[in-house]
Amino acid sequence: MIVDQKGLPKEIVLKLLDEYLQEDMNYGFGRILGSMCTSPHPFAKMVYSKSMEKNLGDLHLFPGTAKLEREAISMIGSLLSKPDAIGYIVSGGTEANLTALRVARNLSKKDRPEVIVPKSAHFSFDKAADLLGLRLLKVRLDENFQVDIKAVKEAITRNTVAIVGVAGSTELGVVDPISDLSEIALDRDIYLHVDASFGGFVLPFLRDIGYDSPDFDFKFKGVCSITADPHKMGLAPIPAGGILFRDSDFMSVVGVRAPYLSLGGVTQHTILGTRCGASAVAVWALLKHMGREGYQKVVKRCMELTNMVVKKVERTKKVYPIIKPTMNIVGLASPSVGPKRLADRLKQKGWAISFTSNYIRLVMMPHLKKKHILRFLSDLEVSL
Ligand SMILES: Cc1ncc(COP(=O)(O)O)c(C=O)c1O
Repeated sequence: MIVDQKGLPKEIVLKLLDEYLQEDMNYGFGRILGSMCTSPHPFAKMVYSKSMEKNLGDLHLFPGTAKLEREAISMIGSLLSKPDAIGYIVSGGTEANLTALRVARNLSKKDRPEVIVPKSAHFSFDKAADLLGLRLLKVRLDENFQVDIKAVKEAITRNTVAIVGVAGSTELGVVDPISDLSEIALDRDIYLHVDASFGGFVLPFLRDIGYDSPDFDFKFKGVCSITADPHKMGLAPIPAGGILFRDSDFMSVVGVRAPYLSLGGVTQHTILGTRCGASAVAVWALLKHMGREGYQKVVKRCMELTNMVVKKVERTKKVYPIIKPTMNIVGLASPSVGPKRLADRLKQKGWAISFTSNYIRLVMMPHLKKKHILRFLSDLEVSL
């Protein structure tokens, strides 16, 4: 395809666009059960579209947007027991995890840096290890799918620059024992990063609504940084990840001077240069508009759907949850049909779900309603 010499009228471009975009799935249809993203909140979309020229890479031009980003980080920090945390609204969990490991590596000044992650860690850590020249040690999980603490201790060497704990694993929503990891980190003077990319906008509200939700955040003194993404359960438009640090001193090891920018330049601590200010504006507006109560309601609805799935499948006796869900992610195993075959059958019926080698995986996101799940459960039953 080439760029036409003469531009096309907007109506024609829109018609062409529609032809492509209607191939996409739509959260509103209630058929997407395997995604950690969802339809953005309409208020956030409106605010985002008003702020699309804002560039957080050039702070002198956009001091108001920079202030909004700082306040958004402080609000997220308040959900994570540290309103004075510092950090950035980034492009997503991948960039947030990369940023954290960049800080950890640079702080340590080790020649052959190693990072310990649980086997359940997201593949973004593989990318980060590749980019940062880190050796990634993936340690085993215990019978609860949490990182095995003994295995973490055994994996520590003099080259260890960071340990990672996950608070809401991608496959099952499991929270690692962050308290134990924090003790190890303090004891051995190792950087601890918590990946709460998904859990960051779930776990703080679960406790509020009466669930027995595990602690995972800056409450533990060993936790140096946390990933918590607004573009997942935070209802923000993509891209919006969050990286938060306990201490502003950490930033000194990743600062890069950008001299050509306005008013004598700035020092950037992020990986990206030009940064999407609209994301930060939308996250700020959403946190203000939703308040704690707004998110509590969202999480409550998602958990009700999760509990409904668990209860109904247990009755069938043909599928069972791999573990009791901690949050709105369910892994379902079926002894009679393998996960790939089952996912294929459900796909033929129009469902978008993911699967692992042992189970199919459902993520009960805010775009789902009870009627969608009931329809899904009846399709599941006939697919077994
Ligand atoms: C635990 C966890 N960490 C990191 C990521 C990566 O986030 P993103 O896709 O926003 O880069 C994900 C994505 O699902 C995740 O579940």
